[in-house]
Amino acid sequence: MDRAMDQARIDAAIQVYYARQFDESARLTSRSAQGALELIRVQEMIADRVGPRSRILDIGGASGVHAARLAEAGHEVTLIDPVEAQVVQARRHGTFTAQVGDARRLRFEGDSFDAALLFGPLYHLHSPEERRTCLEEAARVVVAGGLVFVAAIPRFIRHAMVTLAEDIPHPYPKEWVDLLEHGTPTGGRFPAGHFHTAEELESELLEAGLHDVELCAIEGVAGLALEQVRDDDPELLAAALTLARKTGHLPGIRDITNHLMAIGRVREAAGRLDPTRPNGAGVG
Ligand SMILES: C[S@@+](CC[C@H](N)C(=O)[O-])C[C@H]1O[C@@H](n2cnc3c(N)ncnc32)[C@H](O)[C@@H]1O
Repeated sequence: MDRAMDQARIDAAIQVYYARQFDESARLTSRSAQGALELIRVQEMIADRVGPRSRILDIGGASGVHAARLAEAGHEVTLIDPVEAQVVQARRHGTFTAQVGDARRLRFEGDSFDAALLFGPLYHLHSPEERRTCLEEAARVVVAGGLVFVAAIPRFIRHAMVTLAEDIPHPYPKEWVDLLEHGTPTGGRFPAGHFHTAEELESELLEAGLHDVELCAIEGVAGLALEQVRDDDPELLAAALTLARKTGHLPGIRDITNHLMAIGRVREAAGRLDPTRPNGAGVG
């Protein structure tokens, strides 16, 4: 299938999915215990690594669940998202700036932020070239030495979710093999573009010029089960958090979690080009 056409179809589906079919803010706050675990883990990963009063760009920030907490913690937050209905919701928080925008074409000058968050765009982009553009754009707008936080969905957990819901047919469906081998999305309403392995995600950050890349499971081994837990259970959540904190960095576990986080550092000035400057002059 033609890749550009395919992405146009995914982009159109993203508009419908997030504006009308799925409540993204409920996902992190009330839908299941997985959301509560994800929210705590992501916020602590950021808090542990960024300085006070940082300028943070939340790319694909939806209705602003993370952005609102970061603003409350004293950071100067800007959110962008392609789905206008979510941006309107995000603006209602009133504590950060929110605008419609696309991760592939950031309308900010180079070095405008201390950190960027890409929690969404990467698994909605099908082609490696567009994922690279998106990572390079995030790196461009962050100062040298700053961090880019990137979330991805591991293809092995996706395979488990798809196959556990059905009897295993024989012969094994080709699209399930494609999902495992290549990260190609299959079935369901979620407008996915690509599912990663941890190694692949690390390579994509390195190829985009980021360095010192850390990889870590966000929810860890308990995450999938917690999707079925609807009620508050503080002891269960505390146990899942301990597991994720203690084992989330381990290879293998990084691939069997609901979400995977990669954190890369933006290179120092040498050799870094700023496309917003005349002749793409180096930064600094
Ligand atoms: C699963 S939601 C995650 C929302 C939020 N960042 C979080 O971590 O909970 C994925 C988000 O990525 C956004 N998105 C999809 N494609 C994008 C793109 N090309 N540029 C920026 N955001 C995009 C969607 O609109 C959606 O809000």
